[in-house]
Amino acid sequence: MPTQQEVSEKLKQINYPGFSRDIVSFGIVNDVVVSDTKITVVLVLKTQDAKVVDALTRDVQKVLGEAYPGLTIEPRVTIQEARQAQQAPQQMSYLNNVKYKIAVASGKGGVGKSTVAVNLAVALAKQGMKVGLLDADIYGPSIPLMLGVDEQPAFDGKRLIPIEKYGVKLMSLGFLVDSNDPVIWRGALVTRALQQLMTDVDWDGLDVILFDMPPGTGDAQLTLSQSVSLDGAVIVSTPQDVALLDAVKGVQMFRKVNVPIMGIIENMSYFVCPHCGGRTDIFAHGGVDRECKRIGTDLLGEIPLDAEIRIGGDKGEPVVAANEKAPQSQAFMDIAARIKSNLTGQ
Ligand SMILES: Nc1ncnc2c1ncn2[C@@H]1O[C@H](COP(=O)(O)OP(=O)(O)O)[C@@H](O)[C@H]1O
Ligand SMILES: [Mg+2]
Repeated sequence: MPTQQEVSEKLKQINYPGFSRDIVSFGIVNDVVVSDTKITVVLVLKTQDAKVVDALTRDVQKVLGEAYPGLTIEPRVTIQEARQAQQAPQQMSYLNNVKYKIAVASGKGGVGKSTVAVNLAVALAKQGMKVGLLDADIYGPSIPLMLGVDEQPAFDGKRLIPIEKYGVKLMSLGFLVDSNDPVIWRGALVTRALQQLMTDVDWDGLDVILFDMPPGTGDAQLTLSQSVSLDGAVIVSTPQDVALLDAVKGVQMFRKVNVPIMGIIENMSYFVCPHCGGRTDIFAHGGVDRECKRIGTDLLGEIPLDAEIRIGGDKGEPVVAANEKAPQSQAFMDIAARIKSNLTGQ
């Protein structure tokens, strides 16, 4: 007869559907009961999605069935009420005062997710919204640099005060760690650091907060989708097939946890030659639009590959802040307007 511990070890082979995190470390396995004839595994889910329930039931059957062929395997799934689930992290009151919470995500790193997040945040602020930007990228918190912020946030004795730049209130994981000191973020640490950035920061009175997520489908994504009721996710991709494939995984992941997908942004979409004005589709073109149609989501807009956009990021003055009327900025302003009207109906 295996011990409870041994069974839990086996269950770590199973990932939450669509995510790269296993169900044990994610805390879904509520109980494991082992008897002479039977292993019962109690899973607690916050989604009613039949596909998730089926996949988990099947995976538990398979993994434990193969490991312990003589025993009956009984996966039991309990659905935690959504309302109950939302109330559970009782400290979340600060973020509850924010009207709309949006994740800016990508499947792959380096596709321009932070660049897009920063410019969209500034664009939304220019369109009259009170905007917060939470840099949650554990692999490279780059938002402070992109907004030209080098001071540390103040502490008022109770909460950290976000730093305001270009009309955007900013907090970053980068403020909490030394940038010369690479941190190996383990699951529990990611969860704790992220939760702190949501609970211990004065986010009061915002209309919208954007989360610059780390790429992929791991701990940070799960933490966020479990502890905040996200109003939507915006996925950033380049037109290349590899990036697009990962972007689609990102879409599926958010759908699994019932976060509405607001659409995909195609970044580095095309290049306009500053000398001759001719357009080149460096990474091919049209792939994101096709993929959006296939998976039933919107193409939110196309951002050109452009030196001003890169320079704006490097010198800490996003192109939308530096020159709102430039065509590159208009691309961001248009997307921001779509997001705003999608959220507010205006
Ligand atoms: N549309 C664009 N045109 C030119 N350079 C871009 C564009 N988008 C991003 N970049 C540059 O590409 C690099 C990676 O972008 P970044 O936003 O840091 O990506 P991610 O957050 O996805 O890792 C940065 O140097 C950035 O300035
Ligand atoms: Mg980034």
